[in-house]
Amino acid sequence: MALSAACGLPGTHALNLTPGKRAEHIRNILDQVFAHDTRGGINPLEGEFLIARLLESQPRCVAEIGTAAGVSTAIILKALDLLPHPKDFFAFEYLTYCYFAPEREPGYLVGLTYDELPSYYHPNWGIGSADMGKAMEGKGQIDFLLIDGNHSHPWATLDTICALPYLADNALLVYHDINLHLIGSERSKDEYGPHLLFYHFPGLEKITPGVSLPNIGAFRLDGSPQAALPHLLEVLYSHEWVPNSWPTLDLEAIKTPAEVIKKYLGVRQKAYLLEFMQAYLENRNTHMPTGA
Ligand SMILES: C[S@@+](CC[C@H](N)C(=O)[O-])C[C@H]1O[C@@H](n2cnc3c(N)ncnc32)[C@H](O)[C@@H]1O
Repeated sequence: MALSAACGLPGTHALNLTPGKRAEHIRNILDQVFAHDTRGGINPLEGEFLIARLLESQPRCVAEIGTAAGVSTAIILKALDLLPHPKDFFAFEYLTYCYFAPEREPGYLVGLTYDELPSYYHPNWGIGSADMGKAMEGKGQIDFLLIDGNHSHPWATLDTICALPYLADNALLVYHDINLHLIGSERSKDEYGPHLLFYHFPGLEKITPGVSLPNIGAFRLDGSPQAALPHLLEVLYSHEWVPNSWPTLDLEAIKTPAEVIKKYLGVRQKAYLLEFMQAYLENRNTHMPTGA
């Protein structure tokens, strides 16, 4: 199946699962993936949430930003296996290795849970959100996107802006770590980037697992990706950018977001982002810790 043939077509085969069968599929997937060391990835409750969204929305073109060992990656693939229609799944990881196991490649859990990799799986290692056009250009439109990259503001917002040109109208966006700063360790206290985006973006309906501090959530774009950009810029500029964020926040990091802004909103809005970045860099340098 050619990639472009799968991406962007409306679903034609409804997946009618009884609640019992659906629960069985979810349990099977979680059992297969969580039989392994799943450090650094989504947990079983979040996995269940992700599978449920995939089964109900039945996407044809799925992407993920932030793979690491590939817990979410393997879960997404196994849920997509259940969908009878053609599909594509693009995984993007900024690094060429797994950050906590540098001897292993990103997404290595997929290899541990499959004898043969699915033909619709398209891993892109060493390719961050800013460069996703290299894989997505001419390949159709993403109707389901998981964002699980860096958690310092403004990365989740920048990742989303970078993805806009490749999203379908009304795409479902899923964010991980939406409450990490509240439930994580002391080290995570500044990691509220996905939280700002998820709770401040005016999505029609925010879906989360039914727990008091959910750490994964989804909402559907209201119409075109272009219409989402002003809301994303509101989130981008209304909250302080975390100093010493990773990947490094510099003029290079905003090159792609700046082009997306120019494409949809014109050169003046692009210039505003560049000025904002200059001010951030000057302020960051002024506040550099002694000896840095
Ligand atoms: C929390 S881990 C992802 C975990 C993974 N989703 C799972 O469930 O196993 C975050 C990963 O995102 C990657 N990352 C950070 N910023 C990125 C970006 N802009 N584009 C792509 N990957 C990014 C990091 O290198 C890191 O490996």
